[in-house]
Amino acid sequence: MTVDVDAHFGGKTAIVTGAGSGIGVALSRALVGAGAHVVCADLDEMAASRTAASITGPGSARAARLDVTDAAAVQALVDSVQPDLLFNNAGITFGGETEDLTLAQWDAIIDVNIRGVVHGVAAAYPLMVRRGSGQIVNTASMGGLMAAGLITSYVMTKHAVVGLSLALRTEAAAKGVGVTVVCPAAVDTPILDKGYIGRFHGRDFYLKGQGVRHPLDPAVFAEQVLETVAADKAMLVTPRPARIAWRLGRFFPGFVQKQAIGFVAKQRKLQDKRAKKELRSAA
Ligand SMILES: NC(=O)c1ccc[n+]([C@@H]2O[C@H](COP(=O)([O-])OP(=O)(O)OC[C@H]3O[C@@H](n4cnc5c(N)ncnc54)[C@H](O)[C@@H]3O)[C@@H](O)[C@H]2O)c1
Repeated sequence: MTVDVDAHFGGKTAIVTGAGSGIGVALSRALVGAGAHVVCADLDEMAASRTAASITGPGSARAARLDVTDAAAVQALVDSVQPDLLFNNAGITFGGETEDLTLAQWDAIIDVNIRGVVHGVAAAYPLMVRRGSGQIVNTASMGGLMAAGLITSYVMTKHAVVGLSLALRTEAAAKGVGVTVVCPAAVDTPILDKGYIGRFHGRDFYLKGQGVRHPLDPAVFAEQVLETVAADKAMLVTPRPARIAWRLGRFFPGFVQKQAIGFVAKQRKLQDKRAKKELRSAA
């Protein structure tokens, strides 16, 4: 892809949600590096401040506390910043058996991963339509394209984000607004250590269990996102093996479902092995 990223983002104003950690930090850094003025927004205000303080020009970064589940707060931030670009990136995950997921956890993941994105769209899209320009970039996941078990609630929310993004894009195009959805496989961020339920825990759950040896470097991923957005593409699916798996799944859905059943079994076995090992060392 040959696009002039600096020319696209230079001087533009962006809000990045979930900018206190992981991909949000990398996106903020890449955007400021390309000359954009970025509001690093996160529920964790200290983390957002650390991100903003750690980034130097040519653009600029400042921090804001934002809970994406609070529609009024999202609207207020959008109103005050009037962003050219909105990155709906904040997200949470739960990993484990679905029978162990509480209703409160279902609500939490729907609130952050779906409603959080809806709040961003509801606040920024009308503004962009009125202005006749702007871009909304939603962070979904490979889990938004393929159905991996044991992260079932996450998969549901990310499918919703993919659907929202692709549908909105077809509406937005004639109004001068771009919509992009990004679908990475595992990226090396703190999320890989979060959200375990029941007997499941450890990075191996998200990595080994799903056949991923090396998660993507967030900085590399962020550069890919910026290139995709600058080229106003609908979707980024990365890395290459994930892209191949996704295409395969579209042609051979039955085969991929069978494989997914195999992955679930493998993950359960891995967790049982680990639990036994822990029991032995505790005895
Ligand atoms: N890391 C991966 O392997 C991976 C893969 C695919 C997709 N994603 C998606 O990328 C996005 C970023 O994830 P990450 O890996 O950087 O995770 P992360 O846990 O490192 O960062 C997520 C950030 O979101 C913030 N956040 C959580 N709830 C919030 C809320 N209600 N309002 C505002 N901020 C909130 C957290 O405080 C945190 O700083 C998520 O949407 C995630 O689902 C991650």
